[in-house]
Amino acid sequence: MNGILSIIYLISTITFIVGLKELGHPKTAKRGNRIAAIGMALAILGTLVLHDYQVAPKIYLLIGAAILLGALLGTGMAIKVKMTKMPELVSLFNGFGGASAALIGLVAFKDITADPVEQATVLSGIIIGSLTFSGSIVAWGKLDGTIRSLIRLPGQQLLNNILFVFLIIVAVLMVTGGWQNPVIVYALLAGSLLYGALFVLPIGGADMPVVISLLNSLTGIAAAITGVLYDNTVMLIGGILVGSAGIILTIAMCRAMNRTLGAVIFGSFGGDDIETDSAANTGTVKKTTAEDCAILLNYANNVVIVPGYGLAVAQAQHIIHEMEEVLTSRGVQVSYAIHPVAGRMPGHMNVLLAESNVDYALLKEMSDINPQFAHTDVVFVVGANDVVNPAALKNPNSPIYGMPILEVENARQIIVNKRSMSFGYAGIDNELFYNTKTSMLFGDAKKAISDIVEALKRM
Ligand code: TAP
Repeated sequence: MNGILSIIYLISTITFIVGLKELGHPKTAKRGNRIAAIGMALAILGTLVLHDYQVAPKIYLLIGAAILLGALLGTGMAIKVKMTKMPELVSLFNGFGGASAALIGLVAFKDITADPVEQATVLSGIIIGSLTFSGSIVAWGKLDGTIRSLIRLPGQQLLNNILFVFLIIVAVLMVTGGWQNPVIVYALLAGSLLYGALFVLPIGGADMPVVISLLNSLTGIAAAITGVLYDNTVMLIGGILVGSAGIILTIAMCRAMNRTLGAVIFGSFGGDDIETDSAANTGTVKKTTAEDCAILLNYANNVVIVPGYGLAVAQAQHIIHEMEEVLTSRGVQVSYAIHPVAGRMPGHMNVLLAESNVDYALLKEMSDINPQFAHTDVVFVVGANDVVNPAALKNPNSPIYGMPILEVENARQIIVNKRSMSFGYAGIDNELFYNTKTSMLFGDAKKAISDIVEALKRM
């Protein structure tokens, strides 16, 4: 029996690795997701049928009911969720992964042996799982807008660090000093939940991408710990894959946000006060129309489109592709500049544009496109704000100072499409909108771009 289960686990592991590889490209990502999901279903079924634990029939009923409930809820949420709400859903699911690991740790604690390795494994599962849960729930609330403002107590960073060190000391004492009291383990759980929430609560808007990918990798680590606990290879490898992919993504996000990982975990991460810009909207902006934009774009040699979160909100990915095709058919060279944290989740813009079949070769990374802006006739910024804000380069007092941006102000002409002069996610004004080279096209992106496309077709 176990031999067959090992083979099933091996097959599942291979599907996870292949799936992860396929997720690396928008064209193959859907297939990769399906392959890994099939592998996961195989691993669950294999475990249920071929495990060698003694399990009472009523436990099977409970497991069946839990799987059914989870599958129904998960499928319902995934079907109903709008593309713009995907990051929130990912955060929520992340949190559930952490909660599972913490609960498994609690159950395992009941039958814990004197083996210090086992004790350390159980306790780290409880700590990492519960802080991932509460941190992800807070991250979900912040992305969703339910938790709006930064909540920061005086000296909170220090308090957080002290709490973290305290949790570790308690865990170490539990292993070395034989503190097997259930009350202490519940206190450890509560402390970890508190730490997770306090860790994410004060983090500023533009810093959220880093914390989201960090929480993601912690979920993987928590799952891997559970794999060690139950000597379950597929859970261990799956967890390691999520954990390491998450860490790589965290490092990439840190680079994109110009932060160090050390500062993220222990330092002044999100430490600058992020306040909405009181001196906002003071300059004069130049308004434009869809017709004027069409003329500017039609007679340009090259155009760079800069998509942001607003493109996702407006679901304007198909119409922007149509605009790109019309311009290309007129001999205009068109490309898309993709900022690593544009939107609300890693790869948000890539996924969105892949959905409308934009050629992947047209998507340019920030480091490749930035030197090109000086030779660009027209930049068309659509629903992007923070990722093109020059304050990140010029204003040391800005909360996004130091974050690399798409340097669109070096282009000859700039068109910005958004609905109003409202701020982006970081809650700050953007001097790009007042630049003499910038024309503001106000309106919902889908409608505004449709109008441009119609005007282009009339020309
Ligand atoms: P934002 O700075 O959030 O700006 C989006 C802009 O889109 C807003 O200023 C909004 O202005 C406009 N908009 C909204 N709906 C629109 C619509 N229907 N039509 C046209 N425009 C619309 O977006 P960004 O430039 O993509 O930057 C992303 C931000 O999110 C960064 O601060 C980043 O750190 C943060 N963040 C990113 C992630 C990841 S991993 N990508 C995760 C969490 C947070 P109006 O309201 O005036 O229209």
